[in-house]
Amino acid sequence: MRIRTAALSLALAAVSLTGLVSAQTAPAAQHPWSNTSLSPDQRADIVLHEMTQAEKIQMVHGIGWGPLREGAFVPPDNNGGAGEVLGIPRLGIPSIQQADSAVGARMAALQSRYATLLPSVLGAASSWDSKAAFLYGDVIGRELRAQGFNQSIGGGVDLARDPRNGRLFEYPGEDPLLAGTTVGHLIVGVQSNHIMGDIKHYAMNDQETGRTIVDVKISKKAMQESDLLAFNLGIRIGHPASVMCSYNKVNTDWACENDYLLNHVLKGEWRFPGFVVSDWEATHTTVKAANAGLDMQQPGDEYFGRPLLDAVQAGTVPQARLDDMVHRILRSLFATGAIDHPSTPRFVVDPFRGRDDSRQIASESIVLLRNQQNTLPLNSATLHSIAVIGAHADVGVMSGGGSAQVDAPGGNAVAPLASTAWGHAVYFPSAPLKYIREQAPNADVKFAAGTDVAEAAALAKASDVAIVFADQYESEGADTLDLTLPNQQDALIAAVAKANPRTIVVLITGNPVTMPWVDQTSAIVEAWYPGIAGGQAIADILFGKVNPSAKLPITFPSAIADLPHPQIFGIDPSRGAGGLPEHWSKEQRQTSFPADLNEGARFGYKWFESENKQPLYPFGYGLSYTAYEYGSLQVDAAKKSATFTIRNTGSRPGVEIAELYVQLPAASGEHFNRLGGFERVPLAAGEEKTVTIPIEPLTAATFDEAKDAFTWQHGDYTVSVGGSSATLPLTTKVALY
Ligand code: BGC
Repeated sequence: MRIRTAALSLALAAVSLTGLVSAQTAPAAQHPWSNTSLSPDQRADIVLHEMTQAEKIQMVHGIGWGPLREGAFVPPDNNGGAGEVLGIPRLGIPSIQQADSAVGARMAALQSRYATLLPSVLGAASSWDSKAAFLYGDVIGRELRAQGFNQSIGGGVDLARDPRNGRLFEYPGEDPLLAGTTVGHLIVGVQSNHIMGDIKHYAMNDQETGRTIVDVKISKKAMQESDLLAFNLGIRIGHPASVMCSYNKVNTDWACENDYLLNHVLKGEWRFPGFVVSDWEATHTTVKAANAGLDMQQPGDEYFGRPLLDAVQAGTVPQARLDDMVHRILRSLFATGAIDHPSTPRFVVDPFRGRDDSRQIASESIVLLRNQQNTLPLNSATLHSIAVIGAHADVGVMSGGGSAQVDAPGGNAVAPLASTAWGHAVYFPSAPLKYIREQAPNADVKFAAGTDVAEAAALAKASDVAIVFADQYESEGADTLDLTLPNQQDALIAAVAKANPRTIVVLITGNPVTMPWVDQTSAIVEAWYPGIAGGQAIADILFGKVNPSAKLPITFPSAIADLPHPQIFGIDPSRGAGGLPEHWSKEQRQTSFPADLNEGARFGYKWFESENKQPLYPFGYGLSYTAYEYGSLQVDAAKKSATFTIRNTGSRPGVEIAELYVQLPAASGEHFNRLGGFERVPLAAGEEKTVTIPIEPLTAATFDEAKDAFTWQHGDYTVSVGGSSATLPLTTKVALY
């Protein structure tokens, strides 16, 4: 009783301090649902029972474009995020304040706030580290909480079917197990802060070209064994509050009114108890969408406002369906603690803690692709001169755009580029040049912008070593047409490498790129978009403060011709520039076109392996400053696990990511490996460890459409273990099922 009184007076103090009777500060003890020993479902039902029909309708749609569009209505309690659902103060239900937060909280600067820019999600996936993924989500959840949000609408897990997808930097790569595991732990991190987490964009939203009209054609079997598997695992691990359905169609129906995806798979097979929120303007109907399983329209109420009320009255949407929508939203608020531990926008984000966490993740995400004659790590004691070239490395590092854009502190580090616009790269003030200088205090470190190729080559020639930076801007809404570095950077790299054989290339890219100069260079580092501490993290790798451990979560092809679909769906090459989306007519923009994904689940490394194509760099590949040896593989068929040894044969401590692949029995007709498990193994110099990796059963299963279920085949599975999808020194055949 005394505790309750204290809580009440604390809450009242908060009310009088802010001068607002906000639902978020309402004392929990006042409400019938306050009993925390009840389940989230029971508590949701108590609230639901007290709600009027109007309040129920209010809970299943947003308030409009709000701060996203100038002139749009902004409710007084709006927190400045991409979405809001109004709360019900009389019942103690807070407004849902949703923030885009794919790689950090978006739109912070508009509210005079700061948010940490994390490395790209593709980078985090390169760590193959559940702890790093948790930390990633924890930073997002912690900062959203400090800013007064109670829902993250990040959590992208769409698979990298095409390396040209403009949002790959928001997604965790091409493999369902790695992607689902990464995003699952990221969501756990978000929700550990009592912030509702989300997973998106459900489903098959694997290209940006025509994303709101493309009709993806794919079999249920292929979906279940690829993109849906990533969602399935991510949801199983992360228990997100919501699933965001995507813009595209899947087998004729829009994803947000797709009975198979929403009712049948998500809520049926996977028993997802949370709510489905539409992507922004991805709702197309009232009755069909409601009955197919959509629970919340965003950002407005065109379909789930008055028309839904009318539909329920008319009986075309059952009352029970409306109650189910509301129940799902309420139970997510309770299950994540968003109601019991309300966020209040009264704290300041700690930029130093954010930077340290971002740096930690970046140090595990930077992939060493090439290292001839141990060029790296650089030895600052023997270097007299270093040329640093290109990509604005004198001022900062590039970040990804679109709704994932985080605001750079102090604005765009590269003037005069716009600071927060779509379509303009924003650089964050973590200058690689500064940190290279810091780590090589006795060397003469000079910078050339790279715009004058001859000048850059001359500087490279006059230096002991040349470090050339190249970057590639990516943003929501468009794909890259090819995998070539933009702005003639290939020519710059080639000229620098010709001038100095000790040339190190540092790539700051959203996607894989081709490297026509690969053989001329000494070393190549893929840093992705490395986040607010990117400059430091890159310097740490270059000078060996950090021994690289990351491995590619995506195949780097040598040419577009090697992809399952050399042409991006929707782009008509015969029309030249006119075929590009930016030149589409209004009619073309509104007319659906098919994307026939006849490669099924066979893309990325599975495609390259079964087609006998050589990638530039394979999935799961990445070098270290030490070397590892694998030995004595044993598979326990009963336990479905593999045990083997790894030894660090070099003279430095390191972390090896051990990868386990399974190939289905011959009768399956499949001719490729599937990633079945992985583990990061820290090893001191000379140390050997015995490692056991469990095989995720769903990665060894096939989806039987007739049975509408996963099944496991009898016969010998090939189980292989090693440090890259293309280098698997241990292999054995065993009847797993
Ligand atoms: C994006 C979503 C985003 C939403 C709100 C959409 O355009 O596809 O990922 O969460 O906008 O900003």
